[in-house]
Amino acid sequence: MLSSRKVLLVVSGGIAAYKAAYVARSLSLLGADVRVVMTRSATEFVGAQTFAGLTGNPVTTELFTGGPDVPHVELARGAELVVVAPATANLIAKMANGISDDIASATLLTVRCPILVAPAMHTEMWENAATQRNIETLRARGIELVGPTSGALSSGDEGPGRMSEPDDIVAGAVEVLRRSQELVGVSVLVTAGGTHEPIDPVRFIGNRSSGRMGVTIASEAAARGAKVTLVAGSLSVPVSSGIEVVEGPTADEMRAAVIARAPDADVVIKAAAVADFKPGDPATTKLKKSAGAPEIRLVPTPDILKELGTDPSLRKTGSVLVGFAAETESDPAGLGTYAERKRADKGADIIVANDVSSADSGFGVDTVRAVIATAAGVRDLGLVSKRDLARELIDEVIRRRSTPDV
Ligand code: CTP
Repeated sequence: MLSSRKVLLVVSGGIAAYKAAYVARSLSLLGADVRVVMTRSATEFVGAQTFAGLTGNPVTTELFTGGPDVPHVELARGAELVVVAPATANLIAKMANGISDDIASATLLTVRCPILVAPAMHTEMWENAATQRNIETLRARGIELVGPTSGALSSGDEGPGRMSEPDDIVAGAVEVLRRSQELVGVSVLVTAGGTHEPIDPVRFIGNRSSGRMGVTIASEAAARGAKVTLVAGSLSVPVSSGIEVVEGPTADEMRAAVIARAPDADVVIKAAAVADFKPGDPATTKLKKSAGAPEIRLVPTPDILKELGTDPSLRKTGSVLVGFAAETESDPAGLGTYAERKRADKGADIIVANDVSSADSGFGVDTVRAVIATAAGVRDLGLVSKRDLARELIDEVIRRRSTPDV
C-alpha cells in the first residue's frame, strides 16, 4: 500500500514515545521505507535500537556525526512525508519559530514534503495560549494535525493533550500521502496580492489585499503535488519554498505574466485583487505639492479573468479557470448570487465569492466567509480558515478535472 514510500518519523521526548514504535511498525508493514529521527529526550523513553529493529533502518539521534555527513539534510531530501509523533510542546514551538538546535528540529526546518504532527502533552501545556498560537502557525503553513485526544495523561490527570492512537496516526499518514499525489504532473498558475497602479514614480493606487488567500492556495496546490507558479502583486506574507514566483506588480504587468503562462497551465486560479482602474497618464516625475491637487483621470485596466474565460485560444484545452469575487456582503445567499453572476459574466468554471466587509472575514485576517459556485450550483462554506477554503477549492478543481461537465 505504501510500497517504498519514504516516510520520516520524528520522535520527541514524551511518554507517548513508546506508541511511536507501533507507528513505525505499522508504516513498515504497509511497505513504507521508514527512517526514524529521535531527540535526545526521546531516547530516555524508548531505545533507538527498538526503532532500528522495527524499521530495518539505522536511527539518527545526533545533529553532528563528527564526519562529513549532514544527516538532517540527507534525511530531509529523501522524505515524501514526515510524521512527528509524539510532538511535544517544545518541538512544536521550535517548528513554529524556525529553531533548529537539534537533529529533530533541524530536519523539520529542512524538509519540503508534507508534515503530519501528533501532539502529546499535559492539558495545561496544550491549552496555553503560546502552544495554541504555535499550532495556528503550523496549521496556516499547511502542516496537518492528528489529535490530540482527550483521555488519561501520564500525570494521572484526564483531559485534552493525549496523543492519538497509533492506528489513527497511520491512517492520517496514508491520507496525507494519497493527497500529496493528486496533482502530480499538473501545472497550476495562481495570482495573488493587490496590484499597485502608479500615479507618479513614488505614489500608487492600491488596495488592502495581503495576498494571503492566493499564497495559501498556491501552497495547497503544491502540497497536492502540482507544479505551481505564482504571479505576485503586492504580498505581505511569505511564499512557501518550491513555488516559482513571477512579479506582476501592476494590472498590465500581471496580465502579461499570466497571458504568457496560461497556455501551459492545467489550472488557472485568479486570486489576485487586480485594480479595476488605473491612472490614465501617470506622471514620469514626482508630482509636487506646490503644483496643487492633481486631477487623476482613471481608465479601466484589462480584465484578465474575463479575457481568459472568453477567449479559448489563451488557455490549454480542458484547463480549469477559477476566479474570485470580493464582496461587501456577509449573507451566503447574496454571496451566491454575486458568484453565479460573475461565473457567467467572466466565463470561469468556478467562482469563489467572499465577504471582505467583516472584522473576521477578508483582508489581512486568516478567516473568510465564502461560497463556491460551480456548474453544479453554489456551496456555502460558512466562516472558514483560508487554509480550509484553499483545501475545499483544490478539491473542487480536482473534481472538475475528473468530471469536466460538473
Ligand atoms: N480580475 C482580473 N482583472 C481585473 C480585475 C479583476 O483578472 N482587471 C479578476 C480577479 O483576479 C478576480 C476577479 O476578476 O478573480 C474579480 O472580479 P471583479 O469583476 O474585479 O470583481 P470585484 O473586484 O469583486 O469587483 P466588482 O464587484 O466591481 O465586479
